Amino acid sequence: MTKTLDRTVRIRSAWRAAWDHGRFEALDGLLSPRYVRRRGPAATAQDRDTFKDSIRAVRLAFPDLRTEIEEIVEDGDRIAVRWRSTGHHTAPFLGVPPTGRPVEVAGATFSRFDGPEVAEEWVTWDPRQLLEVLGVITTTKEAAVDADLVRGVHRKFITGVTVVTTDDDGTPKGLAVNAFSSISLDPPMVLVCVQNSSSTHPALHRASHLGISILAADQLDVARTFASKAEDKFAGLAWTPGPHGAPLIGGSCAQLEVEIGERLQAGSHTVFTGRVVSARHDDLAPLVYSGGGFFDISQTAPLPW
Ligand SMILES: Cc1cc2nc3c(=O)[nH]c(=O)nc-3n(C[C@H](O)[C@H](O)[C@H](O)COP(=O)(O)O)c2cc1C
Repeated sequence: MTKTLDRTVRIRSAWRAAWDHGRFEALDGLLSPRYVRRRGPAATAQDRDTFKDSIRAVRLAFPDLRTEIEEIVEDGDRIAVRWRSTGHHTAPFLGVPPTGRPVEVAGATFSRFDGPEVAEEWVTWDPRQLLEVLGVITTTKEAAVDADLVRGVHRKFITGVTVVTTDDDGTPKGLAVNAFSSISLDPPMVLVCVQNSSSTHPALHRASHLGISILAADQLDVARTFASKAEDKFAGLAWTPGPHGAPLIGGSCAQLEVEIGERLQAGSHTVFTGRVVSARHDDLAPLVYSGGGFFDISQTAPLPW
């Protein structure tokens, strides 16, 4: 009983000191020097110092941070802590400039004691509340706009046509994509949106790299092939693997290879973002797509600018 009281009291006191007041040395009396903090399979495990650094980063962004321990349950050498943190976002965090908004995040920490010290912790929390406040994600609250209306808007937007490809264990795969955009030049990043029902989609999920070939004005037949469900879209086509292995379409006016970064689920599509790792372009006019039709840009009149 004394031990229970001792451990829970020490957790409450060290957490208050570190999280609420930035007195990180208070953790030294609680966490073993060999302490490991695990936050799920995707995150790198932290040691005592990197854990302190992460609290420091959170406190810099949310200086009025308050963490309330709502419940502590003990079972042998294990302790489970249910907690809730609140604070105002007043400095940049995760690359997001300060929003001034209040944030509330809740989670649970499972600690394993080795004698008087915590040897290992597992942390689980729902990042959605935080990401919403930071404006990284938004939960749709408004009624959807009529789909035909939205389609009509998209028909006003002029794009090129790309073929997005990948090497699927030795087999080239690809589809026609006009949802391609530059994200940033420094670092050079781009995105493509691919429907989840596409037969190329699973291969893009497995791949480390993808290729983007911007079709030339005389490649309407290539666009047609890659917009189809043909079994082998590469049959009889001139293509070469790029320096990073992604298939690149011969005769296209520009080509990129991208190291895939994120695969964001968005409605019926996946947004693949990534860093450009190879690039080239040729002096060929691009194929233009607008309002459901294809155009040769060399036939259009340039406007003074
Ligand atoms: C001009 C044009 C642009 C297209 N843009 C996209 C796009 O941005 N994303 C997408 O997923 N499909 C797009 N498509 C549709 C796919 O190319 C088409 O569904 C294709 O059959 C998918 O092939 P797959 O299932 O073999 O991957 C576009 C089609 C055309 C003709």
